Amino acid sequence: MLKLGILISGEGSNLQAIINACESDRIPGKVVVVISNNPDAHGLERAKKHNIPVFAIDHRSYSDRNTYELEIVKVLQQHEVELVCLAGYMRIVGEVLLQRYRGKMINIHPSLLPSFPGLHAQRQALEHGVLITGCTVHYVDEGCDTGPIIIQSAVPIMEKDDENTLAERILAQEHAIYPEAIRLIAEDKLKIEGRIVKLK
Ligand code: GAR
Repeated sequence: MLKLGILISGEGSNLQAIINACESDRIPGKVVVVISNNPDAHGLERAKKHNIPVFAIDHRSYSDRNTYELEIVKVLQQHEVELVCLAGYMRIVGEVLLQRYRGKMINIHPSLLPSFPGLHAQRQALEHGVLITGCTVHYVDEGCDTGPIIIQSAVPIMEKDDENTLAERILAQEHAIYPEAIRLIAEDKLKIEGRIVKLK
């Protein structure tokens, strides 16, 4: 059982998809801890319903990113986390977290990277006028949404779409590909060569 630590900031629907996949044995893994930088994140309530330990570590209570991330690393280590999954975690990952979990930390982003990294990816896609967007699960590196890509799923943009309708259709795909990416890692099926992720 791969021990998963999930970092969130808000709703936690991806967290829920991961919990469900673990509980129904679609992933040989277990969510052992959930950490949110936002104490009001709904995802914390979702985790509690499944008896998963939760920690609200508010970045605003720390003088700098390193001290904040040291606290996160401490909690992840206490729970012997083997894979860190960012699931709607809206903070930039700094060197402390990255140094400890490089190659063992993944993220989901609501666009077909490398298009539209950063905030408001769905809005960026609409404003750019692309016809197809989607979502990406990737390893975390020092850039913003730049790490090696594990899985992507495409979502066509409809003429009537606004940011909300598009985000909703992308989320449905996120809930499918994020557990699948975790399954591949938990089953030790992936290797990273440079910036390319390959099936072993
Ligand atoms: C998801 O769409 C996720 O891809 C996005 O935030 C949403 C969180 O939803 N993440 C980012 O934009 C990270 N840059 P959730 O809290 O319901 O999982």
